[in-house]
Amino acid sequence: MNSHPEWLNKALFYEVYPQSFFDSNGDGIGDLKGIQKKLDYIKNLGFNALWLNPIYESPFKDAGYDITDYKKVAKRYGTNKDAYDLFKTAHEKGMRVILDFVPGHTSINCPWFKKSCEPKENEFSSRYIWTDSVWKSPKDLPVIRGISDRDGAVVTNFFSVQPALNYGFASPHESYEEPIDGKGPQGTIAAMIDILRFWLFHGADGFRCDMADSLVKHDPDRSGTIRVWKQIIDTIKNDYPDAVFVSEWDNPLCSLKAGFDMDFLLQDPFNPYNSLLTRTASPYFRFDNTKKDAKAYFDNFRKLYSFASSQQKFLSLISGNHDTKRLAFYLKPEEMKFYYLYLFTMPNVPFLYYGDEIGMGYEEGLVSVEGGFDRTGDRSPMQWDESKMAGFTTGKTSYIKINPDRKGISVREEAQDDDSLFTFLKTLLAFRKDHVALDNDASFELVDTKGYCPLVYIRKKFAEKLLIAINPSMRTYKISLGDFKGNPLFSSGGAFVEEDAMKLSPQSFIVLE
Ligand code: NOJ
Repeated sequence: MNSHPEWLNKALFYEVYPQSFFDSNGDGIGDLKGIQKKLDYIKNLGFNALWLNPIYESPFKDAGYDITDYKKVAKRYGTNKDAYDLFKTAHEKGMRVILDFVPGHTSINCPWFKKSCEPKENEFSSRYIWTDSVWKSPKDLPVIRGISDRDGAVVTNFFSVQPALNYGFASPHESYEEPIDGKGPQGTIAAMIDILRFWLFHGADGFRCDMADSLVKHDPDRSGTIRVWKQIIDTIKNDYPDAVFVSEWDNPLCSLKAGFDMDFLLQDPFNPYNSLLTRTASPYFRFDNTKKDAKAYFDNFRKLYSFASSQQKFLSLISGNHDTKRLAFYLKPEEMKFYYLYLFTMPNVPFLYYGDEIGMGYEEGLVSVEGGFDRTGDRSPMQWDESKMAGFTTGKTSYIKINPDRKGISVREEAQDDDSLFTFLKTLLAFRKDHVALDNDASFELVDTKGYCPLVYIRKKFAEKLLIAINPSMRTYKISLGDFKGNPLFSSGGAFVEEDAMKLSPQSFIVLE
């Protein structure tokens, strides 16, 4: 049976988008030294693990997801030594750091790609997927053509400046389509294993794997891609059993089989971020939504959850990320508190996107920066304080404009306010830390309330058993305590225990034993 590294049981991830977090040298772009300076902030807020978006050398046509050198930190973020120091300091503080790993494509400027463009056969000729004539392209795959003297078109993976690395075809048909075991794909896999080892050797704790399902082409059931990942992950875990792999795949049924410890369900409608927040006429957690119905969500969630836990693995639940609209776009701060209560008391591994702790907003109408397009507004600089540059940089400019629409939304201001979102989250995470029944691997049992409003569930680990009830609605509910003593541990004003039931006034919650 595959099992996960032990540290995931208590892992709480904070996603740092490096360019927007904290600028230590005044050039208007966040950097690794800046992140290191803020480790205590992240730790004191209650998080013990970081996911860093790509930090490697890149022309930044897609915010660093277009890599030119996988083993070199981009100058603007500092040096490789800064990264190693960050890992070391994080470890000294009991924290972990996972890196973004982009196995599906490189930048068009990557030296590997430049070599592969040469007409004369060389080591990199089959590192990418080239056809054997500039006029041909593989069925249904995007290509670029006419970019070099090599007679062929080359497959791209995301933007046109991101040529796809060659992991082969599930069932090759054309002479230029290699099987997974072919020389080109096996060369790519060996190069990727080498990169992963490099960063683990220097102290990284694992990887968030970008577009993990995109590797093998014409692979409808993903069995080829699963095979490739098994080869990569099994090899790495042999030497680094504590390394964590999290997939951007959207299908735990495939990705967990492939050896990942957990899967983001980003595009999956049954990610709570999607079905309870963004892809519904009215988000479940909005107080004025009078027709709350989470049945479809929970029916599917339970299926995925029971599969993941049967494999002793996890799903990854998010507050949002660098590709999604900010949570504050959908919910008011008071409503966000209810979403956080849910996110951080559910089973599985939670991820908070930087700035969501203070309810940073989506910055509307920005011209695209570094391939962000409509995502640019989710990536604005962290709002540390209310000063002109928001405490993000000592310089006069920042690479994305500081959000002008930020009155009262900063770490400094919210930390002083007992009712702020920030203070609520900090208190919640401190509470969670003291209760093993809220660990990521603690058991989960949903109580069947009508339409799942209020949300009531039971978490249990070792001798501790907790009942969590969340009522983000405008109605009052009375729910039987069953065999719980009814001792409230964490609650908002309107929720209390009355004889053998708990009473939940509108917009209230309670956690009891
Ligand atoms: C997913 C990443 O999250 C996104 O930011 C990026 O643009 C694409 N993959 C391409 O790498």
